[in-house]
Amino acid sequence: MTGRPRFVTSFMLCNKNTVLVGKKILLVPYRIEHVAKYHVWMENEELRTLTASEPLTLDQEYDMQQKWQMDEDKLTFIILAREGDAFIPDTINPTDSQVSSLPMVGDVNIFFSRTPLSVSESTNSLPFDDGQEFTAEAEIMIAEPLYRRRGYAQEALRLMFQYVTGCPTSHFIQNPRVKMSQREETHQVPVKMPHSIPPTSLIARISDKNTPSIKLFERLGFQITKHVEVFEEVELRWNAL
Ligand SMILES: CC(C)(COP(=O)(O)OP(=O)(O)OC[C@H]1O[C@@H](n2cnc3c(N)ncnc32)[C@H](O)[C@@H]1OP(=O)(O)O)[C@@H](O)C(=O)NCCC(=O)NCCS
Repeated sequence: MTGRPRFVTSFMLCNKNTVLVGKKILLVPYRIEHVAKYHVWMENEELRTLTASEPLTLDQEYDMQQKWQMDEDKLTFIILAREGDAFIPDTINPTDSQVSSLPMVGDVNIFFSRTPLSVSESTNSLPFDDGQEFTAEAEIMIAEPLYRRRGYAQEALRLMFQYVTGCPTSHFIQNPRVKMSQREETHQVPVKMPHSIPPTSLIARISDKNTPSIKLFERLGFQITKHVEVFEEVELRWNAL
């Protein structure tokens, strides 16, 4: 014990009952009832390659869901498509039938490079003695092809970024001087993580051949900062230039 105050936040546990309500989609925590469909998605080899995922048996997938629920360095939401014009309040439980009846279309994750003891609001540095930077790596999948090119991934990432950074969704746009189009605009969710992280800690690692995903992140204000040829991968950072 060093006597230094610890503000260890369990990232995953902090969203255990959180629903983020957007205009086109809802984000809900990854729960046991989502596992069977998630497993079917991940049987698709192309999706596994694009998301750099290993094949798992259904039992392993259930174990993984339990693990993700407890992990302190990962935040996972399942993306549900809003269909119809039904009013959904900003504060709703993930088990509410209005939520659970919506189609599951993908997932969005953030991996934290470490559990912060405390994150400085203005920089991406952490009060660790080893001087290593803190990063939050975002990953997204719209698994159902039918639901692609509808702006779901954009909205899911903006809602997630708002949740983890506390910045408004309008912050995450390629050129902040250009107002978001109505198609891109998303609902302002009044929900954020208890301890916000700086937006400059947001990164993405994407296969250098995955043009749709690279374009998606660029649209949200990320720029390519590294090409790791040996992994055929690019690294993008938010507002890097
Ligand atoms: C990449 C992916 C998440 C995009 O999801 P989506 O919901 O279709 O994306 P959106 O509709 O929100 O598109 C947002 C922007 O991303 C870019 N984009 C998305 N799909 C694209 C495509 N097929 N070709 C080129 N640009 C594309 C465009 O700039 C688009 O804006 P526009 O429609 O106004 O041109 C989806 O194709 C997917 O899940 N693919 C498989 C898994 C994967 O590659 N995940 C990424 C791993 S990090």
